[in-house]
Amino acid sequence: MTQGHKDFGKAWRERMSALRNLPPVLAIVWRSGPAVVTLGLVFRLIASLQPIALLYVSKLIIDSIVNILSRHQPIPAHLWWLVAAEFLIAVLGNVLTRILDYLDSLLADKYTRHVSIQVMKHAAELDLIAYEDPVFYDRLERARVQATDRLAMIQMLGRLIQQTITTITLSASIIYFSPWLLLLLIAGVIPAFVGESHFAFLGYAKNFRQTPVRRQLDYLRVLGGSKEAAKELKLFGLSKFLTERFTRLSDQVYEENVALSRRKLVAGGFLSIVGSLGYYAAYVYVIWRTVTGALTIGSLYFLAGAILQASSNIQQIFSTLSGVADQALFLTDLLAFFEMRPTIRSKTDALRAPRPIMRGFEFRNVSFAYPGNSRLVLKNLNFTLHTGERVALIGENGQGKTTIVKLITRLYDPTEGQVLLDGIDLREYSLEDLYREIGVIFQDFMRYEMTARENVAVGRIEEIEAIQEIAAAAHKSLADEVIARLPGKYEQMLGRRFENGVDLSGGEWQKLALARAYLRDAQLLVLDEPTAALDARSEYEVFERFAELTGGKMALFISHRFSTVRMADRIVVLADGQIAEDGSHEQLIALGGSYAAMFEMQAASYR
Ligand SMILES: Nc1ncnc2c1ncn2[C@@H]1O[C@H](COP(=O)(O)OP(=O)(O)O)[C@@H](O)[C@H]1O
Ligand SMILES: [Mg+2]
Repeated sequence: MTQGHKDFGKAWRERMSALRNLPPVLAIVWRSGPAVVTLGLVFRLIASLQPIALLYVSKLIIDSIVNILSRHQPIPAHLWWLVAAEFLIAVLGNVLTRILDYLDSLLADKYTRHVSIQVMKHAAELDLIAYEDPVFYDRLERARVQATDRLAMIQMLGRLIQQTITTITLSASIIYFSPWLLLLLIAGVIPAFVGESHFAFLGYAKNFRQTPVRRQLDYLRVLGGSKEAAKELKLFGLSKFLTERFTRLSDQVYEENVALSRRKLVAGGFLSIVGSLGYYAAYVYVIWRTVTGALTIGSLYFLAGAILQASSNIQQIFSTLSGVADQALFLTDLLAFFEMRPTIRSKTDALRAPRPIMRGFEFRNVSFAYPGNSRLVLKNLNFTLHTGERVALIGENGQGKTTIVKLITRLYDPTEGQVLLDGIDLREYSLEDLYREIGVIFQDFMRYEMTARENVAVGRIEEIEAIQEIAAAAHKSLADEVIARLPGKYEQMLGRRFENGVDLSGGEWQKLALARAYLRDAQLLVLDEPTAALDARSEYEVFERFAELTGGKMALFISHRFSTVRMADRIVVLADGQIAEDGSHEQLIALGGSYAAMFEMQAASYR
């Protein structure tokens, strides 16, 4: 193959792949509001027939005027009916334009709403692992931004359809008068067609190429005006640096844009001359046919108008198409985000979680490495959590305690080995069912900027109105004392984001979070250092209460304070991804291993 062929092939493939966003975007638009889309299409169809109807009625009027003048006849009544018809068609055109604007903005709102909801739903389905991947996180952020405000795209899509139908009807009417005319028209229009489509694709391909740079520009612009960055930008004197970088990048984009616009100016100018030649050749042909008596003056008017409008519509189709394609380009991240699939899912014939749990949870030869990191955090770990047992898990920071919690709650699947519940792999159970049986408060639990009641109710959101159960849970976690001090009590808005919000201390937030775990009617309670922000005495109180309340229940808790740890039935020490020691407080002290050493160290610091 010659070089030219290859280039052509490559350019063509590039063009086609550039358009790949369009079908999925159309599908999203359709799903946002099938009724509005259908209605819009119907009105577009009527509106697209308006130009030809208007031309045709004008032709009839002109023909009958010519008739009156040439034959000196009285004015026939039907002339006024024709004028009335033309008036109505013109009015209808205006009204339709307004209705279509209305439908477009309606659809744009529906689209924004639909996409935002889909983004939230889809984000909730994806693996937790995904959130720890910066690439994914970036994509999610951009998808969020892209979800909104695509009115321009919706309008252009509608216009595209309308322009296409108008062109088809006008061309059909031209053929009806004379196939030769269409040939001439095509000869005139093809250059414009080729030119417009060529530049539309070039423009799109350019924007496709520029997307990374445009993203950087967005980032710099946001950074330059952000609250979070303001302190550092000022103190480090970064403003000039950022502005210069922005200027350099935007200059680069600008130059590419100008270069393309210049080419388009030259080529477009030339092609439009060719196009005009085609149009005037057709015009000359129509005039000749009229003068020789083959066409009426009304038909001359009709054809001149139809040819002009058809060729300008064809040009518009291509500029609209490139506009739509360009808008669709912005949705690349959104579409990529929707294409991501979760790996942690329920099987189709998943088991119900056992109720009550008979034997408990077992880690069998579990090894685990975080994705993108080959280091094994857990190495061939074996460990059982029996029913009715309260186990304290201890170990230095970074030993994998939280990782164990994430595996037991199936936020992650083990890299090797199995986590079993009553002897069956967790992967066999329905996820939703499994999650229902577990109440977890993580180290980095959420502080919801909602009311105090809602902050507890999220533990069992179906019961958001069950104020008595909520109060009982708050009592168990000692959060009731915190809530009693709030001006709005249970209905007090928390956090600083919203009006009248009251912020709490770290320890107070923790007590609220703990109430969630109590509210949840779960068979396993997991507390991952949930009391780190409490002072030693408050933590002791909280856990004393916890021990009382969970007597005979299955619980796993992680804490660094030995006063708390001692309350457990069994203590498990995690070191180097494996269980180093396992037993009651007394047993481990007697063993004289790392637990005894750590205990001695902490006890010494209190002396
Ligand atoms: N999302 C993650 N991606 C990669 N490594 C992680 C991730 N989370 C934790 N780790 C690493 O895994 C190890 C265990 O972490 P973690 O279970 O949180 O420890 P602990 O709760 O005992 O302090 C640490 O070395 C930590 O750096
Ligand atoms: Mg941890």
